[in-house]
Amino acid sequence: MSESVDARQYAPATQRNRAPILEVLLEVLPPTGTVLEVSSGTGEHAVFFAPRLHPRKWIPSDPNPLALLSIAAWRSNFPADNLYPPIALDVCDRIWAIERDELPKPLSNLDFKRDEIVAIVNINMIHIAPWSACLGLMAGARRILPPGGILYLYGPFKQSGVHTAASNAAFDESLRSQNPEWGVRDLDEVVAVAQSQNLSLLKTYTMPANNLSIVFQMRSTI
Ligand SMILES: C[S@@+](CC[C@H](N)C(=O)[O-])C[C@H]1O[C@@H](n2cnc3c(N)ncnc32)[C@H](O)[C@@H]1O
Repeated sequence: MSESVDARQYAPATQRNRAPILEVLLEVLPPTGTVLEVSSGTGEHAVFFAPRLHPRKWIPSDPNPLALLSIAAWRSNFPADNLYPPIALDVCDRIWAIERDELPKPLSNLDFKRDEIVAIVNINMIHIAPWSACLGLMAGARRILPPGGILYLYGPFKQSGVHTAASNAAFDESLRSQNPEWGVRDLDEVVAVAQSQNLSLLKTYTMPANNLSIVFQMRSTI
């Protein structure tokens, strides 16, 4: 394949939601350390957030090979010294790529220390994946995050079992018609899974377009 082929993909929603999400991240992320982004998708968020969250470092990830190519292409176009190359990471794996003794290739060649991960950011995944992805995400967060570490989620949620907007109900229906295992999740159920994995609900933020930012914090083990 010619090197001039541009693998960058585009998700228009990222242009609309990135500034409001950044505002929340600046408020809730620890001031230093490494942020692991789970399900980075196109990589547009990664190249926008990394330079603006300096001195924190940012590791983008996704299980989809085309997404990994897109993230790498966005990173080549907008390099930042605190943005790592993307890694293949599926939250449903019992051990995530980042936890293995032998780190995934790009990281094993770089000055990366896994205990520097202080936060996990996950945008628009748990409703576009089976429920097992939410379970895997929370289990991984428990294994990886230190006490005080942050898990940030963004997306549409039902509250007390009810959609918060007609547009979310329609979106839910369209998701389920594509895959019966997908669908807008109920916040109470997500919080219950998080709590079972030692994560406390720290704060929720109402975001534009009927989305929420949900911030969890890893409890101390003592
Ligand atoms: C709607 S896209 C969101 C991408 C990006 N975060 C954004 O907001 O544009 C959902 C992403 O979740 C990823 N995904 C689906 N199942 C996953 C899993 N089991 N583990 C990690 N990522 C997953 C997909 O590959 C896809 O990139």
